[in-house]
Amino acid sequence: MRIISHVDELSRTLEAARRDGRSIGFVPTMGFLHAGHRALMAQAKRACDLVVVSIFVNPLQFGVNEDLAGYPRDFESDIAACTAEGVEIVFHPSVEEMYPTPMRTVVTVTGLTDRLCGASRPTHFAGVATVVAKLFGMVGPCDAFFGKKDYQQVAVVKRLVRDLSLPVNVVECPTVREDDGLAMSSRNTYLDVPARQNALALSRSLFALVDSIGAGERNRLQIESDLVQSLGSSQGVTIDYAEVLTGDDLTITESIEVGREYVAAVAARVGAARLIDNVSFTLDPSGKLLADLGALRDGLPFVRS
Ligand code: PAJ
Repeated sequence: MRIISHVDELSRTLEAARRDGRSIGFVPTMGFLHAGHRALMAQAKRACDLVVVSIFVNPLQFGVNEDLAGYPRDFESDIAACTAEGVEIVFHPSVEEMYPTPMRTVVTVTGLTDRLCGASRPTHFAGVATVVAKLFGMVGPCDAFFGKKDYQQVAVVKRLVRDLSLPVNVVECPTVREDDGLAMSSRNTYLDVPARQNALALSRSLFALVDSIGAGERNRLQIESDLVQSLGSSQGVTIDYAEVLTGDDLTITESIEVGREYVAAVAARVGAARLIDNVSFTLDPSGKLLADLGALRDGLPFVRS
């Protein structure tokens, strides 16, 4: 495995690989890698000839009072994880390498960023879209793997690729959960023992929502207020948002209709962490509920015990 820290070297190496007829799988990350990231790498490895992982804590996507300085880092353990997943290249640039001059170009994806994390973190998605556009420019034509854990982020990246005609195929991967349902996140490291227990309220309230739709509830307002009620009444949890939106354009809907994807997304402060989670679901033409609750670390679908 090669660790590359310069943009020129990365682009040259990947161009040479493409000339040799090798397909590129790209997994952008901010490091402190866990089984969720590793599932993206494994999926990239199955689909592509060469896997490149970027590890870069992107200052642009952190608000002024957010956790940039304290964001967890462990490069050695990240390298071990990448090696174990058969990654060929780790791109690990410095902030100066990524942003050698002050940025005068900002990529903003409108509409999709009005709600959810876009509303509570107003500068966040411009920071994500800008760094992802830069990384795509550096990596070149590839399949790029993103987790549905960050549902709004994938929607933003897919739209960015489409609007700017970038030569990238975005692949969505399921949310990887711990056995008890907690969505894996680098920020779970901020949770002490009681907060780790309280954090289960996020997945629990989302699974209860899926159950209520399975039992026939179709009124979005009712579904959303039940979600707010169950999450908001959980011990040690302060809701940031809890919403049910259409999956394609992330807008409000009156009722849940057949043949359309919806997402129920939550963000909440639990102990020292701000956590997010979501489930997406569709009613098939016969009215049967197809819900994506995510996966376990071995890739099997997550099933509640
Ligand atoms: P980061 O939070 O490190 O996540 C990197 C990728 O891993 C994202 O696509 C994210 O959705 C995915 N991921 C995280 N936890 C996951 C889980 N439990 N299951 C499945 N996938 C999971 O997202 C970012 O970094 C940054 O915003 C980035 C895209 C790298 C731009 O800076």
